[in-house]
Amino acid sequence: MAEEIYSPGLEGVIAGETAISTIAGGLQYRGYSVESLADHCSFEEVAFLVLEGELPQANQLAAFRDQLNDAMFINSEIVETLGKLPESSSMMDVMRTGVSMLAHWDPETGDNSHEANLRKSIRLLAQLPVVMAARERLRKGKKPIEPDAELSLAGNVLWQLFGEKPTESFARAMDVSLILYAEHEYNASTFTSRVVASTLSDLHSAIAAAIGALKGPLHGGANERVLEVLQEVGSSERAAKWVREALDNKRRIMGFGHRVYKTGDPRAVYLKTLCAELAVGRSEFEDMEQIAETIEQAVTSEKGLPPNLDWPSARLYHYMDIPVDLYTPLFVVSRVVGWSAHVIEQHDNNRLIRPRARYNGKSERTWLPISER
Ligand code: CMC
Repeated sequence: MAEEIYSPGLEGVIAGETAISTIAGGLQYRGYSVESLADHCSFEEVAFLVLEGELPQANQLAAFRDQLNDAMFINSEIVETLGKLPESSSMMDVMRTGVSMLAHWDPETGDNSHEANLRKSIRLLAQLPVVMAARERLRKGKKPIEPDAELSLAGNVLWQLFGEKPTESFARAMDVSLILYAEHEYNASTFTSRVVASTLSDLHSAIAAAIGALKGPLHGGANERVLEVLQEVGSSERAAKWVREALDNKRRIMGFGHRVYKTGDPRAVYLKTLCAELAVGRSEFEDMEQIAETIEQAVTSEKGLPPNLDWPSARLYHYMDIPVDLYTPLFVVSRVVGWSAHVIEQHDNNRLIRPRARYNGKSERTWLPISER
């Protein structure tokens, strides 16, 4: 029997190997720093890199874009069901149901081969924004909008939500946020997807489970709560007092802290600059930038907690007028790339993930007939 190792929350435990990304020495996807990718690449290029292992050549990128464009479609039964879900359904539940429904119509759902998994990943990457935007429009009593093959995936997200061609700066901001959210090693949702894949279940099942894990406020769900913090604080003058009281009351301030980045999340640093750029010239948003900065300083000095990616991304989406309950679904639209790459890696070299538990329950008990209990 191997030596018994126990770490609550698996903190610090190496739970597997991956060639997809690392956080050692800054976040790198397939060996490229996330900053250099965000500086120079489109989300489509990064998706290709994460899925295939190499940056695409021009012809490969064109073919990848064609594959995405061909798959940016969900059939009418799915659209109809999206329209019938209760009004009260959360958008993350809609995304999870969306993946489950897509599985029924995917021609290769049960095929776990490398090539089929890749094709399914590309289809999901193309289809998830369509699911999100269709539901958003249907719940507002509007008709879903067909994707536009001339636009990037990020541009199409905005186009299908608002029915207006996005400005260059909005399309770029969306693109960068999708790049930064695309992949992050063994986080809770990715680990979930690998556990499911390790039973030799299929990609759609693994992604549906990952969406369930991402929904929680300690993970992806945090980005929807960040705006509440900013609005509750309301002004820079109130920030320091508000933070002190929140920490005294043992309240978790959403968008701060991270299990593995204890000195700062490089993605948050990168996106903060973009938030400031997007806010320029719009006084309400310039004020919000100021409030965010003051909260950031107070949380850092009071508790030594730096912001994580969800802290700036919530503002970025707010500045683009995206409804708050689409912030975590947008995380899904991007992270499906990382989840898929991990499912493929798991299936290609599988070993069932089945850890042990340390038992802390009662023992040596004597069974009694029901009449004597
Ligand atoms: N606000 C207030 N206190 C915090 C926070 C926070 N956001 N995060 C950690 N702490 C405190 C915690 O109370 C504890 O304090 P003490 O030692 O005095 O008891 C200390 O910091 C260590 O916390 P921990 O719970 O052991 O740290 P963890 O590694 O388990 O937590 C975390 C990581 C992300 C769950 C946590 O920082 C948190 O709850 N953050 C808020 C939610 C959030 O922003 N999540 C997004 C994560 S990153 C992107 C993503 O996955 O979506």
